[in-house]
Amino acid sequence: MSRSQTNPKAEIDDHLANRWSPRAFDPRRPVERERLLSCIEAARWAPSCFGDEPWRFIVADRYSEDELDNWKNLLDCLTPKNRAWAQHAPVLIMACASTHFRQNDKPNRWAEFDTGQSVFALCIQATSLGLITHQMGGFDEDMARGHWGMPKEVEPMSIIALGYMGDDLVLDDGLREVENKPRTRRPMSSLIFADRWRTPYFRQED
Ligand SMILES: Cc1cc2nc3c(=O)[nH]c(=O)nc-3n(C[C@H](O)[C@H](O)[C@H](O)COP(=O)(O)O)c2cc1C
Repeated sequence: MSRSQTNPKAEIDDHLANRWSPRAFDPRRPVERERLLSCIEAARWAPSCFGDEPWRFIVADRYSEDELDNWKNLLDCLTPKNRAWAQHAPVLIMACASTHFRQNDKPNRWAEFDTGQSVFALCIQATSLGLITHQMGGFDEDMARGHWGMPKEVEPMSIIALGYMGDDLVLDDGLREVENKPRTRRPMSSLIFADRWRTPYFRQED
């Protein structure tokens, strides 16, 4: 299914292996309502520190007439480079982190961490349904804050493009080249440590 292969060094779940961040969305294929709901529901069931559920999502489906303006507003927040391909995504979702605990209003230093986990659950659920996702940090944060009237303790984190894989001919030449480049990962030895910082845990794996 995926154009850009994952080459894991060990057996991993198919949905993890199949997830990647394509840019070639099918502009003509909407996301079914129940599939969108499943993706959001997966995000909602992520773990969080003290069960605070600090994630917040703004969702807009361009195929819903009354959501088109909101979808356009999300698209407008993106950097021009992201907008160039994300304009083909039928659904845009902004993930935000509420940075203070609900219970005592103290700063929650895990809010962004938990929001990331929630977004990843959304992405994996999407993959399992044959959808594709692409997160973007390249957007105008102030514009987002202003437009949706976010309280100051809310941190807009990413805009997620959601939809079905399309033909890479929707991309310009430069983006098509990036789209078809093999994906790589840094060696385990530079990331996974044992008894000392930078001492590789898996010595044989790279
Ligand atoms: C928080 C975050 C911000 C990102 N921002 C952008 C972005 O602005 N534009 C973009 O094209 N990709 C963006 N990406 C996608 C990454 O470039 C991509 O996940 C990474 O290169 C790994 O590729 P893969 O997702 O296909 O495994 C972002 C990903 C994350 C998690």
